[in-house]
Amino acid sequence: MKNIGKISAATAALDFVSDNMIVGLGSGSTARIFIEKLANRVKTEKLNITCVATSISSQELGIENGLNVVDLDSVDKIDVTIDGADEVDKNLNGIKGGGAALFYEKIVAKASEKNIWIVDPSKQSEKLGAFKLPIEVLPLGSAHVFRYLDSELNLDPTYRKNKDGSLLTTDSGNYIIDVDISNVSNIDGLSTQLIEHVGIIEHGLFLNICDTLIIGNNPVEIKTRKVY
Ligand code: A5P
Repeated sequence: MKNIGKISAATAALDFVSDNMIVGLGSGSTARIFIEKLANRVKTEKLNITCVATSISSQELGIENGLNVVDLDSVDKIDVTIDGADEVDKNLNGIKGGGAALFYEKIVAKASEKNIWIVDPSKQSEKLGAFKLPIEVLPLGSAHVFRYLDSELNLDPTYRKNKDGSLLTTDSGNYIIDVDISNVSNIDGLSTQLIEHVGIIEHGLFLNICDTLIIGNNPVEIKTRKVY
């Protein structure tokens, strides 16, 4: 069944795109709806839009739908990136990577002047941790990182697997270890601690990145991040 919340949020995000923009294409089911709608708008209104993708699947979808998708390094900056999220709190901090695309998503987000997240209402959360936090790790030495997450940080890690039981690999050939952060009170501290640990490539905590959140309520709700 189609998720009306995702469709409403994706549709509302079109208003943030204007002619001659460079647009980052997110990953996941909500971002896919947006990509199709954007392609349709570009065709109908004959817009000059250049896109940069956050995953191989979004790149393929964009190209299939006739969008001009270029490499990140061929542009100086991205005007706006529209992406989904797995969980988002009231300060517009969130968890991403449910689709294993967090590493490229964060690189593209950091190269973007504005980041807009499109979510259905179920993604909202009082405190981050309802969704397992994905951590992208280098395959070499990943068992050591796993032990660190388990015995030193007590985060109950699990390797993400494919349906056939093999370890899932990301677009950049790494593994994903999902951890439980529901008992962690210092999320900023954890973010730093993880990124400083050798073997961890990136994690799915996206803190102070989302500028605008579009929630697919009826009517659609738009929130802007407060900068302190
Ligand atoms: C991909 O790795 C994720 O960060 C997605 O953006 C996130 O999982 C949201 O996906 P849905 O839009 O499918 O819920």
